[in-house]
Amino acid sequence: MAKAVKSRRKEPAQKASATSKKKPAARKPFEGAYPPPAEFSKLARVKSMREYEKLYAESVKNPEKFWAGIAKELHWFKPWKKVLEWKEPFAQWFVGGQTNISYNCLDRHLNTWRRNKAAIVWEGEPGDSRTLTYDQLHREVCKFANALKSLGIGKGDRVAVYMGMVPELAVAILACARIGAVHSVIFGGFSTNAIVDRVHDCQAKAIVTCDGAWRRGKVVPLKDTVDEAMPKCPTVEHVIVYKRCGNEIKMHSDHDHWWHELCAGAADECPATPLDSEHSLFILYTSGSTGKPKGIHHTTGGYMLGTYLTTKLVFDVRDTDVYWCTADIGWVTGHSYIVYGPLCNGATSLMYEGAPNHPDPDRFWSIIQKYRVNVFYTAPTAIRAFIKWGEQWPRRHDLSSLRLLGTVGEPINPEAWRWYHSVIGGKRCPIVDTWWQTETGSIMMSPLPGATPTKPGSCTRPLPGIQPDIVTKEGQSKPANEQGLLVVRKPWPSMLRGIWGDPKRFKDVYWSTVKGCYFTGDGAVRDEDGYYWIIGRVDDVIIVAGHNLGTAEVESALVSHASVAEAAVIGIPDELTGHAIVAFVTLKDGAQPGADLKQKLMEHVAHEIGPIAKPKQIRLTGSLPKTRSGKIMRRLLRDIAAGKAQVGDTTTLEDYSVLAKLRETDES
Ligand code: WT7
Repeated sequence: MAKAVKSRRKEPAQKASATSKKKPAARKPFEGAYPPPAEFSKLARVKSMREYEKLYAESVKNPEKFWAGIAKELHWFKPWKKVLEWKEPFAQWFVGGQTNISYNCLDRHLNTWRRNKAAIVWEGEPGDSRTLTYDQLHREVCKFANALKSLGIGKGDRVAVYMGMVPELAVAILACARIGAVHSVIFGGFSTNAIVDRVHDCQAKAIVTCDGAWRRGKVVPLKDTVDEAMPKCPTVEHVIVYKRCGNEIKMHSDHDHWWHELCAGAADECPATPLDSEHSLFILYTSGSTGKPKGIHHTTGGYMLGTYLTTKLVFDVRDTDVYWCTADIGWVTGHSYIVYGPLCNGATSLMYEGAPNHPDPDRFWSIIQKYRVNVFYTAPTAIRAFIKWGEQWPRRHDLSSLRLLGTVGEPINPEAWRWYHSVIGGKRCPIVDTWWQTETGSIMMSPLPGATPTKPGSCTRPLPGIQPDIVTKEGQSKPANEQGLLVVRKPWPSMLRGIWGDPKRFKDVYWSTVKGCYFTGDGAVRDEDGYYWIIGRVDDVIIVAGHNLGTAEVESALVSHASVAEAAVIGIPDELTGHAIVAFVTLKDGAQPGADLKQKLMEHVAHEIGPIAKPKQIRLTGSLPKTRSGKIMRRLLRDIAAGKAQVGDTTTLEDYSVLAKLRETDES
């Protein structure tokens, strides 16, 4: 591997000493880190770094004992015989045990005071609102489970779920889990082809959908899209339609059913089926760097354990909290941290239907004020949008109920972290930067909010039971401050069990890069405090004149300039240096575009990271091409930079008009 460039993510004090000629003073541990607020630590489950270290050491000394202890906090119909059966790369957890995650999310709370506690608090985009208590949610789930059964859907059958963010989406997946049907949620922003591919791959027997979904004041006609897909979905016998928007749709008598009609006649009791711990829970498709999407396969017991424990430790949810994860249930974040993790913990989970800027850019802040939200979990891409829209929007609202903030999805640049910390968190809320993947099922690395001092841009340390490492291709651990491949050395309960129907691809993608380890696909650095800094996907790494430059690193440098809102960096072939950097940049409202600014930005990057990272071209643009989950599609930027008239697969692109605008950006 080429020589790594020294990480630029240093606190100011260290940065100064690193650039001066004098020998740096002896390093103090956790220098420049943000300690957890004392008030927070007092009430937290894990109260200090000492407690964390002790818990972590015990968990890795005897992982099976550790995980079994956690599993005992949940309900099992039949105890397991063996905690782990590991035949790399295939894991089985809690072998012989039987449980049901829908039971653990619902029934387990019904004989406690939580019976009448709010399970889901929902806000519709038009401003309507609903609350479902645990008792009510249980009844709705039972009715829909009975409705599924009445159509002949049962254990092992796959059910595709293509809905907007309504409570019935949670009801649908909990009902599948209750009877052992395997759900595969397809994000409501996807189009016909995405449905056809996924339904075909998992051979779904039914699709659950809505007439429409509200998005920025308009109806997204979901049922029409399903109708378009249906001729190419021969395995689908039934389509169940939940009425949300009242838009006109066609109902086909041979396979379409109204949700409300099926449920009207269904009993509100449906005992949860005892399922083997390794019974399939869901398949969720995630895009690979090439080829068709991968159906990430998760099973019951281990996934339940992972989401339960991490929600408890990382979000430190209390019974009085209103907890809000802004993700869509179409992504794993919504599965794990809107539905399964919070409900397994008996928490109150807030769910919002629509866009963050409808009717105005302060919608999130008005929701926080309205429901007195205490814990707020969102993505860096959203945070950068809030920064771009301006501080005046959050300032209009009372955000004092917040006590904890979280991020997930990509590295957060330190500037965005600080903005989030001061403008949204009022400098009093810890931030948990949570690293994980669709494949890992639950959070793997994150601060514990009452224990871990945080450093902006680092996901800090692994959670109990998780054993990551940073290694060479040969599997050698890298010393501190050297970049390498991020792997996980030991199996963990919520790990993916495979790619649906493709064990070979599963081995190739995750288990063949570094022998004996799960390879995450990410590059990372560990600092002297053992803190992990994710550089980004290794396929996002650009090698300029023999130096590895993480795209995220250069982007972070650009965003640290006062005029820049967001940046995406790619490499283009260059005769001299192998690759050269091209940066696509969006400016903050009010910044003056022009050659002058471009020059300044180039100098700024050179100053922040080093001349090697100086972009060869800066292209100013109004917006960047993103997937619907907010990830920048660098692949498309590479095609545009190369001047290709045709770009590659765009089915996951959120806004097609971006492409035309990008082509107009000038190269000079
Ligand atoms: C990839 C996984 C897990 C839910 C959302 C994304 C990147 C995720 C962080 C973080 C830096 C992060 C990684 C990872 N990523 N969280 N806190 N810091 N990078 O799920 O679509 O499966 O993507 O997202 O590159 O591998 P996903």
